[in-house]
Amino acid sequence: MDRYVVIGNPVSHSLSPAIHALFARQARESIEYSTLLVPEGEFAPFAQRFFDEGGRGANVTLPFKVDAFHWAGERTPRAEIAGAANFLASRSGQVEADNTDGTGLVADLAVNLRKKLGGAAILILGAGGAVRGVLAPLLEAKPRRVVIANRTHTRARELAARFAALGPVEAASLDAIPREDFDLVLNATSASTRGEVLELPRGAMRPGALAYDMAYGPAARPFVEGARALGLEASDGLGMLVEQAAESFRLWRGARPETAAVLAELRAGRA
Ligand code: ATR
Repeated sequence: MDRYVVIGNPVSHSLSPAIHALFARQARESIEYSTLLVPEGEFAPFAQRFFDEGGRGANVTLPFKVDAFHWAGERTPRAEIAGAANFLASRSGQVEADNTDGTGLVADLAVNLRKKLGGAAILILGAGGAVRGVLAPLLEAKPRRVVIANRTHTRARELAARFAALGPVEAASLDAIPREDFDLVLNATSASTRGEVLELPRGAMRPGALAYDMAYGPAARPFVEGARALGLEASDGLGMLVEQAAESFRLWRGARPETAAVLAELRAGRA
């Protein structure tokens, strides 16, 4: 049976095994997909062993996405531009790294949540690895304006400069967000996972705008509830997780799963 894992630390909470089990059932395929807990600093030997023993592919989550990118023998262009990988596949003796996070986010926004990204004004809060992973696919969707607002302004500026050739992206400080009727605000900070509160920039969004947290579960709750209290539509990133998984499944197995039923099942807590 073809073997897959999600590599992370911590990883026992991961929903990826449940998601891929649902995809496999849908495709009537037998695969084994489990978690692989790796000690910090030990990514390379653990990944090497998994693939040496015949593993077919891996998803990679925190804190190893940059390690996975550097460790792989080959990298796709979208992994190169993200500088991080959440996906590894064994391909005729080589392991290839890819990044399906951005495609997953765009699929969730555009298909599941029916948001029009073309022409939209998008505010991104945060300037870490999570943002670097999704900027290229977001800019590909042709927004009117993307503002990266970060507590540390220099990090936002570096990121905007790195992606400037791909579209209209600019940097701002969290406390000096430009006046704009934003259609979408994305939370890509790690504030709530650190137990800190991130103030949503009041008045920056147009009525009916979507506030989206790229995390899911309890980590997304403060942002999502804060946004709803301001009268905004709000979503956590569970759909992004399912969509990046679907893109991974497609790359490994050839066919893209139907995601709507899987997402509904997870939302209902049945998986
Ligand atoms: P990741 O790879 O998940 O993006 P990261 O690279 O550590 O993780 O980035 C975390 C992001 O959350 C950064 O943009 C960080 O802001 P700084 O660059 O100023 O550190 C942001 N962040 C973390 N805690 C925050 C808080 N309490 N308020 C605002 N931003 C916060």
